[in-house]
Amino acid sequence: MKLTETFNELSLVLNQYRAYWHFVPFDVLSHSDWPWQNDELNQWLEQIDSGLVKAIDSDYDLQKQYFAGYFPKLFELLDSISVAPMLSKRENISAQLNSDFKKGIGQRKWQQICLLSQGLAELKLPVTEWCAGKGHLGRVLARQHNQAVVSIEWQQPLCQKGTELAEKFELDQRFIHANVLKDTRTLISKNQHVVALHACGDLHLNLLSRVAQVKPERLTLSPCCYHLTQAQTYQPQSELGQSSDLKIDKSILKLAIKAQLAPDDKVTQDRRNAVARRLAYQAIRADITGEQSYRSLPSLNKSILTCEFSDFVKWALSHQTIQISDEQFNQLDFNYYLNIGHQLAFKAQKLELVRHLFRRALELWLVMDKALYLGELGYQVSLNEFCKPDITPRNLLIEAHL
Ligand SMILES: C[S@@+](CC[C@H](N)C(=O)[O-])C[C@H]1O[C@@H](n2cnc3c(N)ncnc32)[C@H](O)[C@@H]1O
Repeated sequence: MKLTETFNELSLVLNQYRAYWHFVPFDVLSHSDWPWQNDELNQWLEQIDSGLVKAIDSDYDLQKQYFAGYFPKLFELLDSISVAPMLSKRENISAQLNSDFKKGIGQRKWQQICLLSQGLAELKLPVTEWCAGKGHLGRVLARQHNQAVVSIEWQQPLCQKGTELAEKFELDQRFIHANVLKDTRTLISKNQHVVALHACGDLHLNLLSRVAQVKPERLTLSPCCYHLTQAQTYQPQSELGQSSDLKIDKSILKLAIKAQLAPDDKVTQDRRNAVARRLAYQAIRADITGEQSYRSLPSLNKSILTCEFSDFVKWALSHQTIQISDEQFNQLDFNYYLNIGHQLAFKAQKLELVRHLFRRALELWLVMDKALYLGELGYQVSLNEFCKPDITPRNLLIEAHL
């Protein structure tokens, strides 16, 4: 794949269709219009049912079937981009390890780790594992590639647990307890292979700035959670990204990691009911205060969302310090507002349906920006998928070596 060309095309397409994805659905729900000008699309969206919305949302072929007419350039581009799967270069490590070794690791995480380790050409350098958690990946790398591993992690209990596991399996792996965002030590060095699996936003950006200073021989990076960052607007790393017209607000970056896998019906229904309750409450708040904009409430545990709606409203009003008299509260027509909430929740689902079409393009753009940056630093760079998306949708992997 030609990174520069593809990145430029992604910039163009994302910019061209910006009105269809660069917004937060809850922020635009109070407007009766759709956030874009497209009468034909809007009429179609008005009449589709929730079954079709759900079916299209998790199926690329259906997205293409229903939307390619509206966004031809997007689908032409997505069809033309093929990110090659990472080929297995080593033996099946999972089969060689006893069940004790993988104890306590979720099945999907275990598959990711094994596929990543098997896909890496022989490690000839000591490894630094960035934001390692308990160092599960580091442990497998130490065993399969027979290399010394240093795992860096912020949470002391995870360092402790990882150290115990390394000792138990007699591996050359040690932990450095560090907050990488604040630690002024170098942490990585030249003669190293740095590995970062699912390092979130600022954690991978911080790594890249250290890589630029130190230039380790080899880097393997799978970025994640691009929105976990301090900057209010995404700061492109590459020169090409910096010169691109595409500017992305922090609030939009979460779109890049929106789930692609279809949740089951119960999860979908629960989620929609929860959203409907929040939106119904917002309608009440707007009527009481006159303030139309969406004000978020904290994540709630299930019991609050399954309690009586009136109790939920009471809690939300008190949480947002909105005072109304008992008389005013008792006069609220909760069914009327719940009905509004359900209508708005359905509209939010349709807005998401359209935004989700751009999810993959956005994630590719964000990852390619980092890959291009590494190229500018003098690295040979490749981009692959290290596992199938049903193991993790965050399956993009940048490999760079000097
Ligand atoms: C998404 S997890 C990934 C863990 C592991 N690499 C994996 O794929 O299973 C991110 C890890 O980064 C750690 N972390 C978060 N902030 C950090 C910081 N400022 N410095 C070092 N580690 C941090 C978290 O504690 C967590 O273990």
